[in-house]
Amino acid sequence: MYYFMPKAANRPVYSYKLSIIHFWALIFLYIWAGPHHLLYQSIPNWAQSLGTVFSIMLIAPSWGGMINGLLTLRGAWDKVREDPVLKFFVVAVTAYGMSTFEGPMLSLKSINAISHFTNWTVGHVHIGALGWNGFLTFGMVYWLFPRMFNTKLYSVKLANLHFWMGTLAILFYSIPLYWAGWTEASMWKQFNEAGDLVYPNFLQIVSQIMPMYVMRVVGGTLYFIGALLMIFNIAKTVKAGSFVAMEAAEAPALAKEGGMKSGESIHRFLERKPVRFMILAIIAILIGGIVEIVPTYLIKSNIPTISSVKPYTPLELQGRDIYVKEGCYNCHSQMIRPFRSETERYGEYSKAGEYVYDHPFQWGSKRTGPDLWREGVKTGRNYKPDSWHYNHFMDPQKMNATSIMPKYSWLADLEIDTESTPRKIRVMQTLGVPYPEGYDLVANDDLKAQADKIAAGLKAQGIDVESNKQVIALIAYIQRIGTDIVVNAEDSENK
Ligand code: HEC
Repeated sequence: MYYFMPKAANRPVYSYKLSIIHFWALIFLYIWAGPHHLLYQSIPNWAQSLGTVFSIMLIAPSWGGMINGLLTLRGAWDKVREDPVLKFFVVAVTAYGMSTFEGPMLSLKSINAISHFTNWTVGHVHIGALGWNGFLTFGMVYWLFPRMFNTKLYSVKLANLHFWMGTLAILFYSIPLYWAGWTEASMWKQFNEAGDLVYPNFLQIVSQIMPMYVMRVVGGTLYFIGALLMIFNIAKTVKAGSFVAMEAAEAPALAKEGGMKSGESIHRFLERKPVRFMILAIIAILIGGIVEIVPTYLIKSNIPTISSVKPYTPLELQGRDIYVKEGCYNCHSQMIRPFRSETERYGEYSKAGEYVYDHPFQWGSKRTGPDLWREGVKTGRNYKPDSWHYNHFMDPQKMNATSIMPKYSWLADLEIDTESTPRKIRVMQTLGVPYPEGYDLVANDDLKAQADKIAAGLKAQGIDVESNKQVIALIAYIQRIGTDIVVNAEDSENK
């Protein structure tokens, strides 16, 4: 923005000083804001609060930057009417302003309680991705290529068409996502007078937002076609011109390197020293990271340990990696927030101490499907035996006619890679998971015993699947998660 906007408008940037403040404030503050992605989740409260406070502070530099960009166009707005490059930039900078205002709002705990895990967040980031990053890139491409090939843009009309298509596309794309987000949040949290969830079946809610997903596809397609128009336009432009490999450029010779010149600002001096500048920037970035990350390693009370939490068995560990491989975390979270709407739907809320052996943890960030953290807990309406999971993985629509979960039938054909088990155990040991010394060598015996037991149980239900198949490991994992601190009805009967 700071390079191409002034170039395209043929104006100096409105305020050089403001750009300096924008830069340093952004890189210093942004790192602190990280925990705003994990509000009401299993990280220490102080970190969540820091995330909120710094996110709110970010409004100041972000909006300073946006205003700096827009004011760079002062006296050049007549050009915006004619020049597609400037049109792209104006919408880009406006989208930057919108998303950097919305971001801090989403960092407020009360708003985050509604927005998180829904499509609202997805809408928010796409205002940034399609509007700010995408449109700025398009503007840069339209500005650069004619200059690189010493010619005029092939078609200004086509570029204008791209601009309007893209703008419309962003609206088509994001409005349905906001609508879907609010719909999801309201339906997830709706209770009736008797105090029961109005929509206990997660699929009811998913079905409700299907039309919004269709609209999103329309918007995305429009955006994509617009980008194709640009590629065509640029290809034609390149063909008409010839590449300028070398451009004569002149600059006054740099006065002798070294100390500050008289009358020079400190920042100008810094800008002439790239290495020093980089070191200072890294320090500014690291401060927030150090303050927020280091204490969670050093101060034990930040993550209260729970004695009943045990490491995964080797089979469950393999299953966890299949869960990661298949991308289940894209649709499922494993993080129950401490709201009644969530504990009613999913069970006991998540504790930080439950995840200490999860490397990497699978908290997820979006719920296209239900949360799975208490999936293994077999009480009440959550009760699902191994056979249910087997049938569900083979064909979700067989278990829930309107399910949109994909089939994973190949998991009944693919074999568990038992050769990797010892290495996986050793990696976990390195990360502090307390498997006994030498366990890596015998882990596969335990794996086989547990897998045989599950396969035998399935056989008793009339399901024939060999115990060395991946679906067995995945079932073991799914039936394990979230059970460490909640006693299974089944287990207590056995005891
Ligand atoms: C495209 C999104 C999507 C993906 C990817 C996905 N799921 Fe699902 N999942 C859903 C939806 C929607 C439901 C609810 C409907 C149903 O039960 O089929 C669901 C339901 C479930 C349930 C039942 C939850 C319950 O208690 O009702 C389990 C278990 C599950 N998924 C596991 C997985 C695993 C394991 C994977 C990866 C192999 C996976 N899912 C991948 C969307 C997805």
